[in-house]
Amino acid sequence: MKTIEIAPSILSADFRVLEREVKAAQDAGADRIHCDVMDGHFVPNLTFGPLVVEAVKKCVSIPLDVHLMISDPVKYAPDFCSAGADILTFHAEALSDTKAVKALLDTIRSKGVRPGVAVNPDKPAELFIDELAAADQVVIMSVYAGFGGQKFMPQTMDKVRVVRSVAISSGLDIDIEVDGGVNGETAADCAKAGANVLVAGSFVFGSGDYAGRIRAVREAASKAYTENRL
Ligand code: DX5
Ligand code: ZN
Repeated sequence: MKTIEIAPSILSADFRVLEREVKAAQDAGADRIHCDVMDGHFVPNLTFGPLVVEAVKKCVSIPLDVHLMISDPVKYAPDFCSAGADILTFHAEALSDTKAVKALLDTIRSKGVRPGVAVNPDKPAELFIDELAAADQVVIMSVYAGFGGQKFMPQTMDKVRVVRSVAISSGLDIDIEVDGGVNGETAADCAKAGANVLVAGSFVFGSGDYAGRIRAVREAASKAYTENRL
């Protein structure tokens, strides 16, 4: 059984003092730092590129979980591998077919980075499920990619269950991450469905108590995940 990991998203951090923010998240017990990369094309919002990932890498020792919300991940994935991503996730719906998904997962792995694949709430698991063995992580979006602070969509947990059951029946040791609207309550829904990695942006960075918020997510999720043990 996997342990629960909490990945605060810097999207809701104070970028004036980004070093202080990511170090504080690490000291507060974060297991990863989630970096949301947006290109203003795949999603209607712009954030940052490899330069910021490279800077964050120098500030913390926990893994960087980089989430590409960009239209051309094939072109830019290598830059994020070089910048220090430990886990690099792209959206399956940004690519033409499952063959292209498999090829990019393989490319990322060949660079020594753990590959992940994500899908938005309205996209089916069929976009990647046949290539699950090539991935180390699946990210099920529980909000539409693009902005922090949105409301959790519980219906997306059906997809978590599908991925979990395929992973178990195929004997795959894969991380299932839920991203969007995770807090001390919704974390239990995620873990109950089978997710073991939880992204929390505004719930952590929008608070004055990072350790307390990370603990709240971890406790709710750990309890539900254990109850759900298969
Ligand atoms: C949404 C991003 C998420 C987001 C999560 O496009 O991928 O990682 O920052 O933020 P919250 O936890 O505030 O929904
Ligand atoms: Zn994200």
